[in-house]
Amino acid sequence: MLSFFMAFAKWLQGTWWALDISGSTWAYPFVQMTHFSGLSLWLGTNLSLDLRLLGIGKKRQTASQLSDSLFAWNWIGFCIAVAGGFMLFASAATKYIPNPAFEIKLGILVPTGIILHIINQQKSRTWGQTSETPMVAKVLALLEFLIWFSVITAAVSIPNYDTH
Ligand code: HEM
Repeated sequence: MLSFFMAFAKWLQGTWWALDISGSTWAYPFVQMTHFSGLSLWLGTNLSLDLRLLGIGKKRQTASQLSDSLFAWNWIGFCIAVAGGFMLFASAATKYIPNPAFEIKLGILVPTGIILHIINQQKSRTWGQTSETPMVAKVLALLEFLIWFSVITAAVSIPNYDTH
């Protein structure tokens, strides 16, 4: 399985656009900025809904109304973050595949966070009908917050493992 991923990584890293990113002085930081801009939108809107489900902050809107108004920005941010992340990955794919922090981030934490986020977003329509949210909403919102916090912890640990 690992050899399949390594073969894919080698091919990806050799594409003209991946070589352009890794070979240029400005392209990598630009792509990094794209990843972070997408993450600001994605994580910011996730956190807003999680806090509302937890019952923290001003309660001008129900969780259901807040979720609806943030929905488009939330998924636009996600698409930008994934596009940027994929380009960062492509620029040095053979380095990232064996990196344990990258494996935990992308193989376990990100998929778990996305599934939980979709559940919270969908369920906030019923949980968020009234100003006060049920206990299950609070527990799952806290869990989602902790998973994204762990994703960030894993992501910032990637450079600590030298896999060259
Ligand atoms: C959607 C949730 C994601 C979060 C919260 C996230 C978070 C982060 C953070 C905080 C960093 C900065 C690490 C640092 O410079 O110290 C980072 C870097 C990076 N991310 Fe993501 N990311 C996400 C998704 C993705 C995806 C989907 C990919 C790949 C397809 C990806 C690939 C990368 C790569 C390759 C780096 C550069 C690591 C390095 O060499 O320092 N990320 N990410």
